[in-house]
Amino acid sequence: MCGIVAYIGKRQAYPIIVKGLQRLEYRGYDSAGVALLHQGQMNIYKKAGKVTDLIKFAEGKELNGNIGMGHTRWATHGEPNDRNAHPHWSESTIFSIIHNGIIENYAALKEALKSKGHTFTSDTDTEVLIHFIEDIYYAEKVSLEEAVRLALGEIVGAYAIVILSKQDPHKLIAARRASPIVVGVGTDEFFVASDASPIVEYTKNVVYLNDNEIALIDNGKLTVKTIENQVKTPYIQELELQLEAIEKGGYDHFMLKEIYEQPRSIWDSMRGRLDAKTGHLRMGGIAEFEGKFANAKRIIICACGTSWHAGLVAEYLLEDLCRIPVEVEYASEFRYRNPVLFEDDVVIAISQSGETADTLAAIELAKQKGATIFGVCNVVGASIPRATHAGAYTHAGPEIGVASTKAFTAQVAVLTLIALQIAQKKGTITETRFRTLLTELEAIPAKVEAVLKQNDAIKELAARYVDSNNALYLGRGYGFPVALEGALKLKEISYIHAEGYPAAEMKHGPIALIDDAMPVVVIATKGANFEKVVSNIQEVKARKGRIIAIVTEGDKEVRTMADHVIEIPETDDILVPLVSVIPLQLFSYHIAVMRGCNVDQPRNLAKSVTVE
Ligand code: M6R
Repeated sequence: MCGIVAYIGKRQAYPIIVKGLQRLEYRGYDSAGVALLHQGQMNIYKKAGKVTDLIKFAEGKELNGNIGMGHTRWATHGEPNDRNAHPHWSESTIFSIIHNGIIENYAALKEALKSKGHTFTSDTDTEVLIHFIEDIYYAEKVSLEEAVRLALGEIVGAYAIVILSKQDPHKLIAARRASPIVVGVGTDEFFVASDASPIVEYTKNVVYLNDNEIALIDNGKLTVKTIENQVKTPYIQELELQLEAIEKGGYDHFMLKEIYEQPRSIWDSMRGRLDAKTGHLRMGGIAEFEGKFANAKRIIICACGTSWHAGLVAEYLLEDLCRIPVEVEYASEFRYRNPVLFEDDVVIAISQSGETADTLAAIELAKQKGATIFGVCNVVGASIPRATHAGAYTHAGPEIGVASTKAFTAQVAVLTLIALQIAQKKGTITETRFRTLLTELEAIPAKVEAVLKQNDAIKELAARYVDSNNALYLGRGYGFPVALEGALKLKEISYIHAEGYPAAEMKHGPIALIDDAMPVVVIATKGANFEKVVSNIQEVKARKGRIIAIVTEGDKEVRTMADHVIEIPETDDILVPLVSVIPLQLFSYHIAVMRGCNVDQPRNLAKSVTVE
């Protein structure tokens, strides 16, 4: 979603801002803009399209200035055009603002401001906010920071903002509520961004603003206060992020790099947490809450998108291994349907970004109802890990491609460890099975590596189906969430319509779609449901569907029926998602590349969905 980057210091701001905006491109956006303060002037350039369009547009214009801010906008209020791009001016063009989030009460504020003579040049909620701030500034005769504080007290909604003033070229103000802001602290310079990626090459020292906090950087000094006017001591943390982790490292796309990183990222997600030789498994994050988990009458999992699919795998695992009833909820539905929650419920919130607005809101709701909330997140220090009672990081490293790949497998690995630890605590798993699963888990990275070696064959297969208009993905048991995830990967990056279904459910509707042009991808690995899946394959073949089957190495049965097979190394049934999803990721990737799609930034999608 929208991205923010700002700079104040001794260097030229423009190159830092533009590079920062490019680092934020992965979040998804449709226009970009910058504001630069120089010799009492504020120069604003903005353009619909990509950051490169903005750069071209700004060529030859005044780009000097040691203070400035830039924004990539993902349209919410108003179309993605030059007019609606950020930054936005205040009425008198003294102040300007960039904003991530949504001001929910903007319509009422806009009406009130119009009646006072304000005119607006865009359709955005953001422009209303800066007009509102300016209105207070003049009416109350207060400083800009005080006007910002007073205005934010009246705002309903979510925001991460940065504000500049022509009158004060040494001052930069930032604030957050439900949308992240991180301040990088350098030597006599500061960076502000919506995540650490634009900052990491300049400084490792950062301050994450909390909700309802305002940062004022004025004449080289950072002060933080709440919107209730309470002064806070900024807590400077050291960033763990490495610069290489956010660069492509020789791959054509971040998505491909991230697919290939999985042997390593799955290992990283388990590293230090298990040791099959000694039978040791310790998820530090749940140590304190182990009893709560073990005694939970119910576990509710809240997530969105791919993280929801990981949640579905977790449902199967937790019910299977721990005998605890589990419900998997779309966070967006859960938050609005007055759910029944008890104090002995444990809620697991899963999120790669840790910023997904619906998941955050679901957490707040569950907290209010007294449930214990456990987070499974990838981005360290993000809002969700800070909002939960406890949690485990997935340690997959930064995921830049909008389509989630390595985050999914890391989530599944971590959720498997959690299920195993609870099962051991509850005594619902035998020591032998526990040890077998630990050994199998340790073997997963090598098995993923083996699947990646089939990349060329998968690419050839993709070439055969590149012109498909539809695809069906089928699986049963642990293969079902994988089918959903495979279908999501294909549709989001290649724009081919794809559906994931439980294989047996096919005959209750989707079977009507099957003809000789319909590719049907089936997770048909050896395991509890194998024979049943074979029957479903026959049903598809009887209707001339084209079967692409993911099978266990050495399979002879499915091979005789399927049009194509992709073999994956044998593993325990419950660990199949970790290996079987890999060929589906590669298949989608190659199809999308062959169709000329923007794989890393698919149309309309955002990496962290910070609006509901
Ligand atoms: O950051 P989160 O895991 O909370 O994000 C949830 C979804 O927005 C995300 O998984 C989305 O579905 C991806 N585009 C999937 O590839």
